Amino acid sequence: MYNNWEDLKNNCMTCQKCELGQTRTNLVFGTGNPKAEVMFVGEGPGEQEDLSGQPFVGRSGKLLDKMLAVIDLDRTKNIYIANMVKCRPPMNRKPKPEEQDACIDWLRNQTALVNPKIIVCLGSTAAAKIIKPDIKVSREHGIFTERKGIFMMATLHPSALLRNPNNKPAAMEDYFKLRDKIKEVCSNTYTD
Ligand code: URA
Repeated sequence: MYNNWEDLKNNCMTCQKCELGQTRTNLVFGTGNPKAEVMFVGEGPGEQEDLSGQPFVGRSGKLLDKMLAVIDLDRTKNIYIANMVKCRPPMNRKPKPEEQDACIDWLRNQTALVNPKIIVCLGSTAAAKIIKPDIKVSREHGIFTERKGIFMMATLHPSALLRNPNNKPAAMEDYFKLRDKIKEVCSNTYTD
């Protein structure tokens, strides 16, 4: 465990704990406000993220930004965004269990330092690891559960919404529930 952000980031940036370290262009550590009360966790970097070193900068990131804007959230100000794995799985395949296991301590350490009140899991990879292994995001999205004082919710991954735009209204409802939960349990998110 690193107890300051710079040490954590500097050590993470040279990670070779799994084979994804060999094929990445850039490690994607995360972005946003490390003091945010709300943290988003995606699956892993895609091509654009690998090239830029920033999470959610491709098409799914643009959609995420739009949905965040509807509830007055801005990725540079009042949230922190990270991924389950920090390096791009080749051909955008799902990260393997052993890759997730190798990477999870970085996310745990990020979470410990951000100390969020709310965690939003984007898609089933993050939801299975963070909320419960057998979660069905298609059925259980938008439902908050609380653990150790942190409220957690899964929503559909923005890439899934690009593939199935019919699900966008249902996903937007999750963001409205998120806004309500922020108003209930966060004190700085909507005032900064
Ligand atoms: N999908 C993810 O899960 N994370 C990213 O950073 C980009 C796309």
